[in-house]
Amino acid sequence: MIDQTLTMIPGPTPVHPRILGALARPTVSHVAPEFVEAFRGAIADFRWLCQSREGQPFIVAGGGTLALEMGLVNVVEPGERILVISQGYFGDRYAELAGAFGIQADVVRSEWGRAVAPEEVAARLAAGSYAAITITHVDTSTGAAAPAASYCELLRGRKELVILDGVCATGGIDEPCDTWGVDVLVTAPQKAIGAPPGLALCLFSPRAMARRRERTSLPAYYADVLRWLPVMEDPGRYYSTPCVNEVFAFAEALRMVRAEGMSVRFLRHAGLAGAFRAGLEAIGLALFTAPDCRADTLSVVLLPPGVEDASFRRAMAARGVVVAGGLGPVAGKAFRLGHMGNIGPEEVVATLVALEDSLRSLGVTVEPGSAMAAAARTLAGLRASAPAA
Ligand SMILES: Cc1ncc(COP(=O)(O)O)c(C=O)c1O
Repeated sequence: MIDQTLTMIPGPTPVHPRILGALARPTVSHVAPEFVEAFRGAIADFRWLCQSREGQPFIVAGGGTLALEMGLVNVVEPGERILVISQGYFGDRYAELAGAFGIQADVVRSEWGRAVAPEEVAARLAAGSYAAITITHVDTSTGAAAPAASYCELLRGRKELVILDGVCATGGIDEPCDTWGVDVLVTAPQKAIGAPPGLALCLFSPRAMARRRERTSLPAYYADVLRWLPVMEDPGRYYSTPCVNEVFAFAEALRMVRAEGMSVRFLRHAGLAGAFRAGLEAIGLALFTAPDCRADTLSVVLLPPGVEDASFRRAMAARGVVVAGGLGPVAGKAFRLGHMGNIGPEEVVATLVALEDSLRSLGVTVEPGSAMAAAARTLAGLRASAPAA
Protein backbone atom coordinates (compact mmCIF):
# COMPACT_ATOMS: atom_id res chain seq x y z
CA MET A 1 0.00 0.00 0.00
CA ILE A 2 1.25 3.53 -0.76
CA ASP A 3 -0.45 5.02 2.29
CA GLN A 4 0.64 2.89 5.21
CA THR A 5 -1.82 4.41 7.67
CA LEU A 6 -3.72 1.78 9.59
CA THR A 7 -7.27 2.97 10.22
CA MET A 8 -8.27 1.31 13.48
CA ILE A 9 -11.36 3.40 14.17
CA PRO A 10 -14.79 1.77 14.57
CA GLY A 11 -15.55 2.28 10.89
CA PRO A 12 -14.67 2.76 8.19
CA THR A 13 -12.33 -0.19 8.65
CA PRO A 14 -9.28 -1.09 6.51
CA VAL A 15 -10.39 -2.15 3.03
CA HIS A 16 -8.69 -5.28 1.67
CA PRO A 17 -6.81 -4.83 -1.66
CA ARG A 18 -9.19 -7.31 -3.32
CA ILE A 19 -12.11 -5.07 -2.46
CA LEU A 20 -10.19 -1.93 -3.44
CA GLY A 21 -9.48 -3.62 -6.79
CA ALA A 22 -13.20 -4.11 -7.35
CA LEU A 23 -13.83 -0.46 -6.41
CA ALA A 24 -11.20 0.70 -8.92
CA ARG A 25 -12.67 -1.15 -11.91
CA PRO A 26 -13.59 1.08 -14.84
CA THR A 27 -17.09 2.37 -14.17
CA VAL A 28 -19.58 0.63 -16.42
CA SER A 29 -23.23 1.23 -17.24
CA HIS A 30 -25.65 0.37 -14.47
CA VAL A 31 -27.33 -1.98 -16.94
CA ALA A 32 -24.11 -3.63 -18.22
CA PRO A 33 -24.45 -7.42 -17.86
CA GLU A 34 -21.38 -7.71 -15.62
CA PHE A 35 -22.75 -5.09 -13.24
CA VAL A 36 -26.24 -6.58 -13.16
CA GLU A 37 -24.70 -9.96 -12.33
CA ALA A 38 -22.56 -8.46 -9.52
CA PHE A 39 -25.57 -6.60 -8.12
CA ARG A 40 -27.70 -9.75 -8.21
CA GLY A 41 -24.92 -11.66 -6.40
CA ALA A 42 -24.63 -8.93 -3.76
CA ILE A 43 -28.38 -9.02 -3.09
CA ALA A 44 -28.35 -12.81 -2.65
CA ASP A 45 -25.18 -12.78 -0.54
CA PHE A 46 -26.48 -9.99 1.67
CA ARG A 47 -29.63 -12.03 2.40
CA TRP A 48 -27.33 -14.95 3.28
CA LEU A 49 -25.25 -12.68 5.55
CA CYS A 50 -28.42 -11.71 7.42
CA GLN A 51 -29.19 -15.43 7.88
CA SER A 52 -32.58 -14.95 6.27
CA ARG A 53 -34.48 -17.12 3.83
CA GLU A 54 -37.29 -14.80 2.83
CA GLY A 55 -36.13 -11.34 3.86
CA GLN A 56 -36.09 -8.73 1.10
CA PRO A 57 -32.72 -6.98 0.78
CA PHE A 58 -32.36 -3.34 -0.24
CA ILE A 59 -28.96 -2.03 -1.33
CA VAL A 60 -29.14 1.70 -1.95
CA ALA A 61 -26.54 4.47 -2.37
CA GLY A 62 -26.35 6.34 0.93
CA GLY A 63 -25.10 5.54 4.41
CA GLY A 64 -26.08 3.81 7.61
CA THR A 65 -28.30 6.71 8.64
CA LEU A 66 -30.31 6.41 5.43
CA ALA A 67 -30.76 2.72 6.25
CA LEU A 68 -32.04 3.70 9.73
CA GLU A 69 -34.47 6.11 8.08
CA MET A 70 -35.66 3.55 5.51
CA GLY A 71 -36.13 1.01 8.29
CA LEU A 72 -38.43 3.33 10.18
CA VAL A 73 -40.43 5.42 7.72
CA ASN A 74 -41.56 2.44 5.65
CA VAL A 75 -43.20 0.64 8.54
CA VAL A 76 -44.23 3.31 11.08
CA GLU A 77 -46.73 6.11 10.38
CA PRO A 78 -46.37 9.68 11.62
CA GLY A 79 -48.32 9.87 14.90
CA GLU A 80 -47.62 6.24 15.86
CA ARG A 81 -45.44 5.40 18.85
CA ILE A 82 -42.24 3.36 18.95
CA LEU A 83 -40.01 2.12 21.77
CA VAL A 84 -36.35 3.00 21.34
CA ILE A 85 -33.90 0.87 23.34
CA SER A 86 -30.80 3.01 23.59
CA GLN A 87 -27.37 2.29 24.99
CA GLY A 88 -25.73 5.39 23.54
CA TYR A 89 -25.40 7.95 20.79
CA PHE A 90 -26.70 5.79 17.95
CA GLY A 91 -29.65 4.48 19.95
CA ASP A 92 -30.62 8.07 20.65
CA ARG A 93 -30.32 8.82 16.94
CA TYR A 94 -33.36 6.58 16.35
CA ALA A 95 -35.42 8.74 18.72
CA GLU A 96 -34.28 11.88 16.89
CA LEU A 97 -35.08 10.35 13.56
CA ALA A 98 -38.57 9.42 14.74
CA GLY A 99 -39.10 13.03 15.86
CA ALA A 100 -38.17 14.28 12.39
CA PHE A 101 -41.05 12.24 10.94
CA GLY A 102 -43.66 13.06 13.61
CA ILE A 103 -43.33 9.57 15.14
CA GLN A 104 -43.60 9.44 18.97
CA ALA A 105 -40.65 7.76 20.66
CA ASP A 106 -40.48 6.38 24.20
CA VAL A 107 -36.83 5.82 25.05
CA VAL A 108 -35.53 3.24 27.51
CA ARG A 109 -31.91 4.16 28.12
CA SER A 110 -29.01 2.43 29.83
CA GLU A 111 -26.18 4.17 31.56
CA TRP A 112 -23.35 4.72 29.04
CA GLY A 113 -21.13 1.64 28.83
CA ARG A 114 -23.96 -0.71 29.78
CA ALA A 115 -26.88 -2.33 28.00
CA VAL A 116 -30.58 -2.05 28.84
CA ALA A 117 -31.69 -5.06 30.90
CA PRO A 118 -34.36 -7.19 29.18
CA GLU A 119 -36.49 -6.79 32.36
CA GLU A 120 -36.73 -3.05 31.69
CA VAL A 121 -37.92 -3.70 28.16
CA ALA A 122 -40.40 -6.27 29.47
CA ALA A 123 -41.78 -3.67 31.89
CA ARG A 124 -42.34 -1.17 29.05
CA LEU A 125 -44.03 -3.82 26.94
CA ALA A 126 -46.27 -4.80 29.85
CA ALA A 127 -47.36 -1.17 30.22
CA GLY A 128 -48.29 -0.53 26.61
CA SER A 129 -47.90 -1.41 22.96
CA TYR A 130 -45.93 0.16 20.15
CA ALA A 131 -45.82 0.12 16.36
CA ALA A 132 -42.17 -0.97 16.50
CA ILE A 133 -39.16 -1.19 18.74
CA THR A 134 -35.63 -0.25 17.75
CA ILE A 135 -32.53 -2.02 19.00
CA THR A 136 -28.94 -0.93 18.43
CA HIS A 137 -27.05 -4.21 18.24
CA VAL A 138 -23.71 -2.58 19.08
CA ASP A 139 -23.56 1.08 19.99
CA THR A 140 -20.36 2.41 18.46
CA SER A 141 -20.23 5.24 20.99
CA THR A 142 -20.02 3.01 24.08
CA GLY A 143 -18.79 -0.38 22.82
CA ALA A 144 -21.83 -2.04 24.40
CA ALA A 145 -23.53 -4.96 22.67
CA ALA A 146 -27.25 -5.28 23.40
CA PRO A 147 -28.77 -8.63 24.47
CA ALA A 148 -30.68 -8.49 21.18
CA ALA A 149 -31.75 -12.15 21.26
CA SER A 150 -33.38 -11.65 24.69
CA TYR A 151 -35.22 -8.51 23.58
CA CYS A 152 -36.47 -10.31 20.48
CA GLU A 153 -37.67 -13.20 22.62
CA LEU A 154 -39.87 -10.75 24.57
CA LEU A 155 -41.44 -9.59 21.32
CA ARG A 156 -42.29 -13.02 19.96
CA GLY A 157 -46.00 -13.21 19.12
CA ARG A 158 -46.54 -9.48 19.63
CA LYS A 159 -47.50 -6.98 16.97
CA GLU A 160 -44.48 -4.66 17.42
CA LEU A 161 -42.04 -4.83 14.54
CA VAL A 162 -38.41 -5.36 15.52
CA ILE A 163 -36.02 -2.92 13.87
CA LEU A 164 -32.37 -3.85 14.48
CA ASP A 165 -29.49 -1.44 13.81
CA GLY A 166 -26.62 -3.75 12.87
CA VAL A 167 -24.28 -1.05 11.56
CA CYS A 168 -21.49 -1.95 14.03
CA ALA A 169 -22.30 -5.67 14.18
CA THR A 170 -23.37 -7.21 10.86
CA GLY A 171 -20.66 -9.51 9.53
CA GLY A 172 -18.68 -9.45 12.79
CA ILE A 173 -21.04 -10.90 15.39
CA ASP A 174 -23.88 -13.34 15.08
CA GLU A 175 -27.12 -11.73 13.92
CA PRO A 176 -29.53 -14.46 12.82
CA CYS A 177 -32.45 -12.37 11.59
CA ASP A 178 -34.95 -15.18 10.96
CA THR A 179 -34.18 -17.03 14.18
CA TRP A 180 -34.49 -13.90 16.28
CA GLY A 181 -37.58 -12.65 14.43
CA VAL A 182 -36.02 -9.40 13.21
CA ASP A 183 -38.44 -7.54 10.92
CA VAL A 184 -36.07 -4.90 9.62
CA LEU A 185 -32.29 -5.10 9.76
CA VAL A 186 -30.55 -1.85 8.91
CA THR A 187 -26.81 -1.79 8.40
CA ALA A 188 -23.88 -0.43 6.41
CA PRO A 189 -20.86 -1.91 4.61
CA GLN A 190 -17.98 0.06 6.16
CA LYS A 191 -17.55 -1.71 9.48
CA ALA A 192 -17.52 -5.47 10.08
CA ILE A 193 -18.32 -6.23 6.43
CA GLY A 194 -15.06 -4.49 5.45
CA ALA A 195 -16.25 -2.65 2.33
CA PRO A 196 -15.93 1.11 1.76
CA PRO A 197 -18.73 3.41 2.99
CA GLY A 198 -21.41 4.55 0.57
CA LEU A 199 -24.36 2.17 0.87
CA ALA A 200 -27.52 1.92 2.95
CA LEU A 201 -28.32 -1.76 3.52
CA CYS A 202 -31.68 -3.06 4.75
CA LEU A 203 -33.43 -6.39 4.99
CA PHE A 204 -37.23 -6.37 5.34
CA SER A 205 -39.07 -9.47 6.56
CA PRO A 206 -42.30 -10.50 4.80
CA ARG A 207 -44.20 -8.97 7.77
CA ALA A 208 -42.37 -5.66 7.35
CA MET A 209 -43.04 -5.66 3.59
CA ALA A 210 -46.72 -6.32 4.30
CA ARG A 211 -46.75 -3.38 6.75
CA ARG A 212 -45.29 -1.14 4.01
CA ARG A 213 -47.84 -2.35 1.48
CA GLU A 214 -50.73 -1.50 3.83
CA ARG A 215 -49.70 2.13 3.71
CA THR A 216 -51.12 4.44 1.08
CA SER A 217 -48.71 7.32 1.60
CA LEU A 218 -45.20 7.78 2.91
CA PRO A 219 -43.26 10.94 3.84
CA ALA A 220 -40.38 9.72 1.66
CA TYR A 221 -39.52 9.21 -1.99
CA TYR A 222 -35.90 7.99 -2.32
CA ALA A 223 -36.28 6.02 0.94
CA ASP A 224 -39.50 4.27 -0.13
CA VAL A 225 -38.71 0.55 -0.39
CA LEU A 226 -41.60 -0.10 -2.77
CA ARG A 227 -39.93 2.17 -5.34
CA TRP A 228 -36.71 0.14 -4.96
CA LEU A 229 -38.35 -3.28 -4.99
CA PRO A 230 -38.42 -3.74 -8.80
CA VAL A 231 -34.65 -3.06 -8.90
CA MET A 232 -33.95 -5.55 -6.10
CA GLU A 233 -36.03 -8.18 -7.94
CA ASP A 234 -34.37 -7.42 -11.27
CA PRO A 235 -31.13 -5.43 -10.83
CA GLY A 236 -31.15 -4.51 -14.55
CA ARG A 237 -34.06 -2.13 -13.92
CA TYR A 238 -33.75 1.57 -13.13
CA TYR A 239 -35.08 3.65 -10.30
CA SER A 240 -32.09 5.84 -9.34
CA THR A 241 -28.60 5.21 -10.69
CA PRO A 242 -26.85 2.73 -8.37
CA CYS A 243 -23.30 3.54 -7.26
CA VAL A 244 -21.80 1.00 -9.63
CA ASN A 245 -18.29 0.82 -8.15
CA GLU A 246 -19.49 0.67 -4.55
CA VAL A 247 -21.72 -2.25 -5.45
CA PHE A 248 -18.81 -4.06 -7.17
CA ALA A 249 -16.75 -3.52 -4.00
CA PHE A 250 -19.57 -4.64 -1.70
CA ALA A 251 -20.14 -7.76 -3.84
CA GLU A 252 -16.43 -8.60 -3.53
CA ALA A 253 -16.50 -8.02 0.25
CA LEU A 254 -19.42 -10.44 0.52
CA ARG A 255 -17.58 -13.04 -1.58
CA MET A 256 -14.74 -12.78 0.95
CA VAL A 257 -17.17 -13.30 3.83
CA ARG A 258 -18.58 -16.37 2.07
CA ALA A 259 -15.09 -17.76 1.45
CA GLU A 260 -14.14 -17.29 5.10
CA GLY A 261 -17.43 -18.71 6.40
CA MET A 262 -19.71 -16.91 8.80
CA SER A 263 -18.94 -18.84 11.98
CA VAL A 264 -15.17 -18.67 11.36
CA ARG A 265 -15.53 -14.94 10.84
CA PHE A 266 -17.37 -14.49 14.14
CA LEU A 267 -14.71 -16.54 15.92
CA ARG A 268 -11.98 -14.43 14.32
CA HIS A 269 -13.68 -11.27 15.60
CA ALA A 270 -14.00 -12.72 19.11
CA GLY A 271 -10.36 -13.89 19.04
CA LEU A 272 -8.97 -10.55 17.89
CA ALA A 273 -11.08 -8.70 20.48
CA GLY A 274 -9.67 -11.04 23.15
CA ALA A 275 -6.10 -10.50 21.94
CA PHE A 276 -6.49 -6.72 21.94
CA ARG A 277 -7.98 -6.77 25.42
CA ALA A 278 -5.21 -9.00 26.78
CA GLY A 279 -2.67 -6.56 25.34
CA LEU A 280 -4.42 -3.51 26.78
CA GLU A 281 -4.72 -5.14 30.19
CA ALA A 282 -1.02 -6.07 30.17
CA ILE A 283 -0.09 -2.39 30.05
CA GLY A 284 -2.64 -1.36 32.64
CA LEU A 285 -5.30 0.10 30.36
CA ALA A 286 -8.92 -0.36 31.41
CA LEU A 287 -12.02 -0.65 29.25
CA PHE A 288 -14.95 1.71 29.69
CA THR A 289 -17.62 -0.83 28.74
CA ALA A 290 -19.06 -3.15 31.40
CA PRO A 291 -17.60 -6.69 31.12
CA ASP A 292 -20.97 -8.36 30.52
CA CYS A 293 -21.78 -6.42 27.35
CA ARG A 294 -18.49 -5.81 25.54
CA ALA A 295 -18.84 -6.04 21.77
CA ASP A 296 -16.33 -8.03 19.74
CA THR A 297 -16.22 -5.28 17.11
CA LEU A 298 -14.67 -2.40 19.09
CA SER A 299 -13.21 -1.42 22.43
CA VAL A 300 -13.62 1.85 24.29
CA VAL A 301 -10.37 2.26 26.21
CA LEU A 302 -9.86 4.68 29.11
CA LEU A 303 -6.78 6.87 28.79
CA PRO A 304 -4.30 6.53 31.67
CA PRO A 305 -4.23 9.44 34.16
CA GLY A 306 -2.24 12.40 32.83
CA VAL A 307 -2.47 11.37 29.17
CA GLU A 308 -4.23 14.00 27.11
CA ASP A 309 -6.53 12.74 24.35
CA ALA A 310 -5.41 14.90 21.40
CA SER A 311 -1.69 14.38 22.15
CA PHE A 312 -2.24 10.62 22.46
CA ARG A 313 -4.07 10.34 19.16
CA ARG A 314 -1.46 12.55 17.47
CA ALA A 315 1.28 10.27 18.80
CA MET A 316 -0.58 7.21 17.48
CA ALA A 317 -1.11 8.84 14.06
CA ALA A 318 2.59 9.74 13.90
CA ARG A 319 3.25 6.00 14.33
CA GLY A 320 0.85 5.18 11.49
CA VAL A 321 -2.23 4.10 13.46
CA VAL A 322 -5.46 6.11 13.62
CA VAL A 323 -7.84 5.54 16.53
CA ALA A 324 -11.03 7.48 17.30
CA GLY A 325 -11.83 9.77 20.19
CA GLY A 326 -14.39 9.07 22.87
CA LEU A 327 -17.93 10.41 22.61
CA GLY A 328 -20.42 11.80 25.15
CA PRO A 329 -19.39 11.31 28.78
CA VAL A 330 -16.03 9.79 27.79
CA ALA A 331 -15.03 12.47 25.28
CA GLY A 332 -11.42 13.37 26.08
CA LYS A 333 -11.15 10.49 28.56
CA ALA A 334 -11.13 7.42 26.30
CA PHE A 335 -10.30 6.35 22.78
CA ARG A 336 -12.25 4.01 20.55
CA LEU A 337 -10.44 1.16 18.86
CA GLY A 338 -12.16 -0.69 16.04
CA HIS A 339 -11.33 -4.37 15.60
CA MET A 340 -13.63 -5.57 12.89
CA GLY A 341 -13.84 -6.31 9.18
CA ASN A 342 -10.92 -7.88 7.37
CA ILE A 343 -8.15 -7.39 9.92
CA GLY A 344 -5.91 -10.06 11.40
CA PRO A 345 -3.10 -10.59 13.93
CA GLU A 346 -0.79 -8.26 11.93
CA GLU A 347 -3.06 -5.30 12.62
CA VAL A 348 -3.34 -6.24 16.31
CA VAL A 349 0.46 -6.30 16.62
CA ALA A 350 1.02 -3.07 14.66
CA THR A 351 -1.60 -1.26 16.76
CA LEU A 352 -0.25 -2.48 20.09
CA VAL A 353 3.35 -1.59 19.12
CA ALA A 354 2.19 1.94 18.23
CA LEU A 355 0.20 2.10 21.46
CA GLU A 356 3.10 1.07 23.68
CA ASP A 357 5.42 3.52 21.96
CA SER A 358 2.89 6.39 22.01
CA LEU A 359 2.27 5.97 25.72
CA ARG A 360 6.00 5.87 26.42
CA SER A 361 6.46 9.07 24.41
CA LEU A 362 3.87 10.70 26.70
CA GLY A 363 5.66 9.67 29.89
CA VAL A 364 3.81 6.45 30.76
CA THR A 365 5.97 3.58 31.95
CA VAL A 366 5.40 0.66 29.60
CA GLU A 367 7.61 -2.40 29.32
CA PRO A 368 8.41 -2.66 25.57
CA GLY A 369 6.68 -5.66 24.02
CA SER A 370 4.45 -6.41 27.01
CA ALA A 371 1.13 -5.64 25.28
CA MET A 372 2.23 -7.46 22.17
CA ALA A 373 3.39 -10.52 24.10
CA ALA A 374 0.06 -10.78 25.95
CA ALA A 375 -1.85 -10.48 22.66
CA ALA A 376 0.42 -13.06 21.00
CA ARG A 377 -0.18 -15.52 23.86
CA THR A 378 -3.95 -15.13 23.45
CA LEU A 379 -3.72 -15.63 19.70
CA ALA A 380 -1.50 -18.69 20.13
CA GLY A 381 -4.03 -20.13 22.57
CA LEU A 382 -6.78 -19.64 20.01
CA ARG A 383 -4.74 -21.31 17.27
CA ALA A 384 -3.99 -24.26 19.53
CA SER A 385 -7.70 -24.77 20.23
CA ALA A 386 -8.84 -24.26 16.59
CA PRO A 387 -9.56 -27.32 14.43
CA ALA A 388 -6.63 -28.20 12.13
CA ALA A 389 -6.88 -26.45 8.74
C1 LIG B 1 -24.51 1.75 15.39
C2 LIG B 1 -24.54 2.79 14.32
N1 LIG B 1 -25.71 3.09 13.75
C3 LIG B 1 -25.79 4.01 12.76
C4 LIG B 1 -24.67 4.65 12.27
C5 LIG B 1 -24.79 5.65 11.18
O1 LIG B 1 -24.12 5.20 10.03
P1 LIG B 1 -23.54 6.23 8.97
O2 LIG B 1 -22.46 7.00 9.65
O3 LIG B 1 -23.03 5.37 7.83
O4 LIG B 1 -24.66 7.12 8.54
C6 LIG B 1 -23.43 4.35 12.84
C7 LIG B 1 -22.21 5.03 12.38
O5 LIG B 1 -21.13 4.87 12.90
C8 LIG B 1 -23.36 3.40 13.88
O6 LIG B 1 -22.20 3.07 14.44
